[in-house]
Parts: sequence; structure tokens; C-alpha cells
Amino acid sequence: MADKETKKLWGGRFAESMDALCERMNASIDVDRALYREDIEGSKAHARMLAAIGVLTDEELAAILKGLDEIRAEIERGELAFRAELEDIHMHIEARLTEKIGEAGKKLHTARSRNDQVATDFRLHLRRRMQGIVEEIRGLQRALVAQAERWAEAVMPGFTHLQVAQPVTFGFHLLAYVEMLDRDAGRMEDAIRRMNECPLGAAALAGTTFAIDREMTARELGFARPCRNAMDAVSARDFVLEFLAAGAIHAVHLSRLAEELVLWTSPFFGFVELPDRFCTGSSIMPQKKNPDIPELARGKTGGVIGALVAMLALMKALPLAYNKDMQEDKAHALRVLDELEMLVPAFASIIAGMKPNPARMRKAAEEGFATATDLAEMLVRKGVPFREAHEVVGKAVAWCVAHDKRLEELPAEVAQSLHPKLSPAMIAQLSVERAVAARRHLGGTAPEEVRRQCAFWKQKLGMED
Ligand code: ARG
Repeated sequence: MADKETKKLWGGRFAESMDALCERMNASIDVDRALYREDIEGSKAHARMLAAIGVLTDEELAAILKGLDEIRAEIERGELAFRAELEDIHMHIEARLTEKIGEAGKKLHTARSRNDQVATDFRLHLRRRMQGIVEEIRGLQRALVAQAERWAEAVMPGFTHLQVAQPVTFGFHLLAYVEMLDRDAGRMEDAIRRMNECPLGAAALAGTTFAIDREMTARELGFARPCRNAMDAVSARDFVLEFLAAGAIHAVHLSRLAEELVLWTSPFFGFVELPDRFCTGSSIMPQKKNPDIPELARGKTGGVIGALVAMLALMKALPLAYNKDMQEDKAHALRVLDELEMLVPAFASIIAGMKPNPARMRKAAEEGFATATDLAEMLVRKGVPFREAHEVVGKAVAWCVAHDKRLEELPAEVAQSLHPKLSPAMIAQLSVERAVAARRHLGGTAPEEVRRQCAFWKQKLGMED
């Protein structure tokens, strides 16, 4: 028989106390203590329901509610000692409640199991923090839109294969991220909507012999409805997978933005300067100013992707219903929550603070033959088939490369020798500003279209004008 100190809440059928190392391995309190708020909320809703169906008296309910509120305050003041022998947050709170209020505390777990309890806590916790992340994503979108509007006219090279492709505006480039982030927020919101069903009342897996009111607990906890099938309610972790998948996709988007910031701030690009407060120096090279924060964002994305893969692997061979393997789920999700809660607002500050260098951007756009497509399209307007125009302009570029000239400097006689319709007037029309201004259809890079899209986003994101 376990001694009084280490007696388990489930100890009735056990003859010896748990092996110390296995007890440590079994404990999840270091991780799931993060769920204390939701565990208390869930217990209060459960207790109210038990009182409503006559399982608890009004006095017992009052004692439980008061006790739980006090425990919450104790945890927040750092007064509750967490101990491996009490395994997890559920048993810590229950044990403390019984210590405080006696018999009534022992009744709280009627018609409930830790299986439905943890599933409920976890959904509530994810729901709350994912809503916060959605808000942070909106903040980052606002920062991007504000910069996009400011730099609607700034011409830079657009790249494919990281080779200069066509001129674009910096505002246009930033708005691409606004679109990606909007889908990221949408994925989070979709996942929240699907996870917003209440497992409470599923008990261990089959439901309970008590005439519980699952609608009531679902309503109390702000869920849209109870989970329909008790076995599914305690077995399912696709709500965690969806969060991790949405989180991984979002992290990948942040990582691409991070990568661009690393490139843009390199002196070889020099498109953007980051304020010192977002950078660090070198311990040996006095001249260095490194974009560590974007680099860390890029690096942390590996861990976020890893969490998704770990969680998929965790679930893939589990029979229904609950299996202890599932206790490992929280570490993955909590880590990703912590990372995103740091990364997204950090990016919002960095984007708001970045200082573009439009002169450098423009120069790079001019140096890369970015207007070659436009020249080919001018020939097409004169009746030259596109494939032939492509070939002619390709030769013009080759001549310029060989003679270290820009396309705008192509001599009239060379142009004429390449194609009779390739006129000096056409060459004279080439400019990166004209190239972007011409692309003014929906979704194009023209400053006027960028401004129109900014107006759309400002309205959608509730930005003041
Ligand atoms: N700490 C457990 C977890 O996080 C709670 C559920 C335990 N259930 C059980 N049947 N042992 O998964």
C-alpha cells in the first residue's frame, strides 16, 4: 500500500507505490500546467451541471466554485507546489480542492474522466490562444499594408529563380504577403470553428450512467455544441493536427519573409535597412550588423514543421479511444503556440520599422534587363509573333551583356540589324516606371493598383485613414 504522502487518486487497486523513474516519466505536470485556467473553467462548468442535475447540493457547488477560484489565484501567485506524484494538472487541482474543502472536492470527478477533461481543456486552450494568434496575424498584415501604401511607387526588381525578372513595386511585393497571411488567419479560424465542440461528458470513452446535461456544459464553456460521439470526443486529436498544420504553413510564410529580409538587408542587395534594435553584432568583427531575428524566425520554422510531423506520427497507429501516447501532444502544440506568439508580433515590429532604400531597388531593377519582356511585347504590338519577338530581344540582351550596356542604351543600328521593326522609338520608351505603370489591371504591380488594393485591405483590416 502506498504511504499517505504518495497515495494516488487512482491508488485503490495498487499494492505498491510507483517506481520513481517511471513516475517521473508518467508525469506531465511540467507541460500541462499551462492548461490550469481551462482546467478550472471546465471543472466549474462540470460542477454547475452536476448541481443542476441533482448530483451536487447547492452548498457543495458553492464550496467547489469558491475552492476552484482560490486555487486559480494560488497558481497565479505561484503558491501551488507542482509534484510529479500528482501526475498532471487535473489531479493537482482536484487534490488541492479536496485538501481545501474536503468531501465535496471528492465528488467533482463524478461523471467525468481525465480523458474528456484533458480533451476539453486542450480545445479551450488552443481556441483561446489561436484567436490571439489570428489577432497578431492581423496586426502583421496592417504593418505590411502601411508599408505597401508608403512604397506603392518604389520600383524594385521582381525575381524568379532569384534572377531579375520584371520590375515590380515594393508595395506590390509586400501585398503578396498580406494575401498569404490572410489565408493563414483563415486556416486558423477554420480550425477553431471545427474544434469548437465540447468533449465533456464523454467521460472515459462511453459516456456515463448519470443523466448529464452536455448541452449545458458546452454552452457554459462557449462551445458551439457538444461532440456528438463520446468515443470520438476522447480519441480525436485532429484539432491539434489542424492547428499544427495551419501553424506550420504560417511559419513557412514567415520564414520566406525572413529569408527575403536577410537577402534585402545584405549589402549586395541593400534594399532594406533594419533598425539596430532588431539586429545584433559580432563578437569579433566590429563592422557586423546581423539580421539575427529574421534568421531565428527562419530557423524556428524547422521546429514548427517538426511539431506537425511529430504529432502526425504520434497519432497514426493509435487504436481508439484514449492512449497515453496522446499525453505527448501538448508539448508539441504548446511549443508552437509559444513560438508563434513571439514570432508574429516580432515580425509586425520589424516590418513597421524597416527602412527601404528605393534608390538601391531602382538601380537593381535597371541593371537586370527587367524591361526585356516589355520590349518583346512592343514588337508583338507591331505584328511580330511573340516567339520571334522573344528571340530578337534575347539577341539584343546578349549584345548588351557583351558590350556592358543596358537595354535602354541599345544603339539604333544594332536594333535595326536585329529586326526592322525594332525601332529607336521603342527603345526610348523603355523604363522601369513605365513597365510597372502599364501593369495596372486587377492584381498587377502598378502603383495605382497597389493603392487600390491597399484601400481594400485598410477597410478590411479596420485601419484608420
Ligand atoms: N495527463 C493526461 C494527458 O495529458 C490526462 C489524461 C489521462 N488519462 C488517463 N486515462 N490516464 O493525456
